[in-house]
Amino acid sequence: MELLDKLNWRYAAKAMNGEKVAENKIQRILEAARLAPTSSGLQPFEIIVIKNQALKEKIKPVAWNQSVITSCSHLLVFAAWDTYTAERINHMFDLTNDIRGFKNEGWENYRKMLLGSYPQKDAEENFNHAAKQAYIAFSQAIAAAAFEGVDATPLEGFDPAAVDEILGLREKGLRSAVLLPLGYRKEDDDWLVNLVKVRKPMEELVTVID
Ligand SMILES: Cc1cc2nc3c(=O)[nH]c(=O)nc-3n(C[C@H](O)[C@H](O)[C@H](O)COP(=O)(O)O)c2cc1C
Repeated sequence: MELLDKLNWRYAAKAMNGEKVAENKIQRILEAARLAPTSSGLQPFEIIVIKNQALKEKIKPVAWNQSVITSCSHLLVFAAWDTYTAERINHMFDLTNDIRGFKNEGWENYRKMLLGSYPQKDAEENFNHAAKQAYIAFSQAIAAAAFEGVDATPLEGFDPAAVDEILGLREKGLRSAVLLPLGYRKEDDDWLVNLVKVRKPMEELVTVID
């Protein structure tokens, strides 16, 4: 039940108070993102952690001037691979072999199958697939933040091309997918803080097939 209590506590804070989040909490939130499952285990994204205030100030105008961009403590940018390449796929399969200490025929056949499919696909399609994987980690980070008593504002209201430009992401083969400011709510300045959480009733969401 504790997880659900935390998920009820959290909300998309509209105002933050500038208080810094302790680094050990940030590390645990990032670790939850790192542990997220992804398609074929490829983890096709990186997370940029922005503590620098001047950089946050630069991003704010291209993020609908949302105040949490600058009043947060840490701004996480989930940046997905711009496409899947053979090198990127091989890197993750080699890493798996290194960590596990053995090669497995089934796993190697699976590698060949992916190499024969993803790199040949359209880059935009691959980016969209990679971005979906980034959202899984993003969601785990949101839940982990709630668990730590840290506020997080999931944020898609920004110009990705402008953020890519500011952070030089395209040169690194990355594209910004979604942002997550982390910090502490400013209760006296947030219209949302006392409003009841609204979700569809379970029967509108879930269909059980016996
Ligand atoms: C992917 C995503 C993007 C969002 N983008 C924004 C945003 O740009 N600005 C904002 O204030 N809230 C944003 N939200 C917050 C949602 O509006 C909010 O999560 C939803 O209304 C549910 O409310 P709650 O999170 O407070 O429970 C976003 C949420 C998600 C999941």
